[in-house]
Amino acid sequence: MAEFTVTPWEVTGDIDYDELQKKFGTSPIDDALLKRLGGYGGIHPMLRRGIFYSHRDMNILLDKYDKGQKFMLYTGRGPSGNTHLGHMMPWIFNKWIQDTFDVPMYFQMTDDEKFLFKDLTLHDTRNMAYENALDFIALGFDPDKTKIILDTECVKTLYPLALKVAKKVTFSTAKAVFGFENSSNIGQIFYTCMQAAPAFLASEIEGKEVPCLIPCGIDQDPHFRVTRDVAPGLGYPKPCMLYCKMFPGLNGGDKMSSSDETATIYTTDTPKAVKKKVGKAFTGGCVSVEEQRQKGGNPDVCAVFKYNYYMFEHDDDKLNEMARKCRCGEILCGECKMALTEKINVFLEDHQAKREEAKEVVDSMTFDGFKW
Ligand code: TRP
Repeated sequence: MAEFTVTPWEVTGDIDYDELQKKFGTSPIDDALLKRLGGYGGIHPMLRRGIFYSHRDMNILLDKYDKGQKFMLYTGRGPSGNTHLGHMMPWIFNKWIQDTFDVPMYFQMTDDEKFLFKDLTLHDTRNMAYENALDFIALGFDPDKTKIILDTECVKTLYPLALKVAKKVTFSTAKAVFGFENSSNIGQIFYTCMQAAPAFLASEIEGKEVPCLIPCGIDQDPHFRVTRDVAPGLGYPKPCMLYCKMFPGLNGGDKMSSSDETATIYTTDTPKAVKKKVGKAFTGGCVSVEEQRQKGGNPDVCAVFKYNYYMFEHDDDKLNEMARKCRCGEILCGECKMALTEKINVFLEDHQAKREEAKEVVDSMTFDGFKW
């Protein structure tokens, strides 16, 4: 069996996503669920392509929605560095869910988490949270229906909820789920309670059951398994989950990560930087043009193809044509890299303009009205 690790703090190796789903006990998004989801406003390419591929209790959420009970959306970001495309992918999907179902969004920025788990000061994590928030807002979330939570600022509201969760989670559960050791700092052991809290926020504020949907990377499941386990005992609905795969690195790895800067595209990258990084991307292509023309390439391992698949080519016909031409040596890696560079740069130019505009509203979209 291939070796891989997926936890909220570490993702390494060749991820077998079916295996992971079995290990976590989440359900596949099957054709019936896809069809059902399609009934609300089409099927997003990330669903159709199996990027969002796993879930918990989606049918329960939709049954309630069909009966007129709206849910709240919740997702988040641990602000440990600049935003890259891998962070943006699930946010883009979240924005689509907000538009499709017309629901409020709570975006949690866990400056506390990154302070506790990384070698960063609270000052660092707050600054990064601000920068990350601009990227989130730039994606076009409804300013009237979207609230940004910064843990150290919104703690007054979150803490009572976190405490209720904490009382229901034993140290042995935390150890079993997250592998804490005696040397782990005690903030880390408590942290899950902070990540659980926003799932119950709307129910708490409205004083009645408000279902919660959390679309995010499947690496976050350990936190939400704990959250779901304690929910009924606290009188809250269990949050429902939609899980995506990790966004691949340009180096051919399974997850884009800031630990390899050259394989990571940041939202603030210049066109020149993008060109350079994509130029170095792993394609699995042959060394010589002649060989490539003769043997063709393999889109299944190619990072450039994966970028089109995950984010930059929504048209299935065009994508299939790209794969076909690659396999038979009709197009070469250089051409694909140029085309992808262009697509990313068009996307980033627009995004960077919206990111600037986000500075105007970033203070008005905070939960509890805190000021950056
Ligand atoms: N732990 C997440 C991270 O490291 C941040 C986070 C907080 C989050 N709440 C969330 C992610 C809800 C997804 C959904 O990035």
